[in-house]
Amino acid sequence: MRDFFPGLAGVPAAKSTISFVDGLKGILEYRGISIETLARQSSFTETAFLLLFNRLPTKPELTQFHADLTQHRRIKYKICDLLKCLPESGHPMDALQSAVAALGMFYPVADVTNESTRYWTAVRLIAKLPTIVAAFARVRRGDEPIVPRDDLSYAENFLYMLTEKIPEPALANIFDICLILHAEHTMNASTFSGLVTASTLADPYTVIASAIGTLEGPLHGGANEAVIHMLENIGSVEQVPAYLERTLGTKGKIMGFGHRIYKVKDPRAIILQDLVQQLDAHPDTNTLFTIARAVEQEMEKRIGQKGIRPNVDFYSGIIYHRMGIETDLFTPLFAISRVAGWLAHCFEQYQDNHLFRPDQIYEGPHNRPYQPLEGRTTLKNEEGKVRGKG
Ligand code: ACO
Repeated sequence: MRDFFPGLAGVPAAKSTISFVDGLKGILEYRGISIETLARQSSFTETAFLLLFNRLPTKPELTQFHADLTQHRRIKYKICDLLKCLPESGHPMDALQSAVAALGMFYPVADVTNESTRYWTAVRLIAKLPTIVAAFARVRRGDEPIVPRDDLSYAENFLYMLTEKIPEPALANIFDICLILHAEHTMNASTFSGLVTASTLADPYTVIASAIGTLEGPLHGGANEAVIHMLENIGSVEQVPAYLERTLGTKGKIMGFGHRIYKVKDPRAIILQDLVQQLDAHPDTNTLFTIARAVEQEMEKRIGQKGIRPNVDFYSGIIYHRMGIETDLFTPLFAISRVAGWLAHCFEQYQDNHLFRPDQIYEGPHNRPYQPLEGRTTLKNEEGKVRGKG
């Protein structure tokens, strides 16, 4: 009998120098630097450079990188037209995925191993993703996209393109920290999905489009959106015990809790909780934050001993909600930051590439007779169960 690991749990899929997690001690490092240090001292642009090039930039390098990102913020009118053609009711993650796949058609990559091509591809993707997300958020309401402003920082410009207002410096700073916290996280589902695509030597736009598709699901990046729906649904601190009783009693999941690797509270959740506190210094009794705190306390009593604790998605949505950002944009916000980590993994994969082609354990029949169409009278399969249609 061959070993089988559902969800590939615990199976290393790559050797990497990009990030490190200790799920028992609650440690996360990017290129060896702790997430707490980066959140306190770095910027998203600098962190993206660190992830991509495995070192902190010098001052002139950072200035140049920032200038290159700023210069490439604009998107082609054809990408805007594409976004305008999508249904307003469609999810912004699907719009982002479509636009990123289309971007690759405008900037064909002849050789994925060429260093200069890689640099400019990374610059374009990191620079343009926020513009795409903000543009879709506006065109779906019938508004024209707001042109990016070169005099604003990365975080300021994104919030400006979304809201048409230049944010307070403190708010832009909190948003920038959120981007740092989401930029990378070892071999998670979306990174793995991107790596599988990279291993076919597909170009980085296709790789990022694959990763965006995988991030969307509620068990992964989509959880930040689901958390807000859950907290709104709970409605008040008093309702928390009954909600948990009902959900856990029917084996339901509490969104924003649990992690394949962390058995302690996710270090990013600790930083994010602190940021919410900065935004909500004197919360009312039933803000989303007070309900969230009550959920955390009650969860600790009920299933804390199983190592199910808040993950990165539990408090991030509360911050974005407090900033007035629409709930279905939360996962795209995750993507505009995670693109830095995805690209770092993609380039690492190209460097020492082996096509991903895992095996499977076949459990189906052999030598099955082929019944001619005329002789098939029912939809019954061989176990006699009627198959559903659809
Ligand atoms: N709420 C309640 N119970 C949970 C939760 C949760 N959030 N997470 C895990 N459990 C329980 C499961 O019911 C299961 O219980 P059992 O052993 O009694 O059957 C046990 O813990 C193991 O759960 P699995 O889902 O098998 O563990 P896995 O390692 O596959 O799960 C996952 C990780 C998918 C993240 C899970 O914790 C989950 O679904 N969480 C909710 C969604 C979420 O917040 N996702 C974001 C993760 S962070 C990120 O991707 C950026």
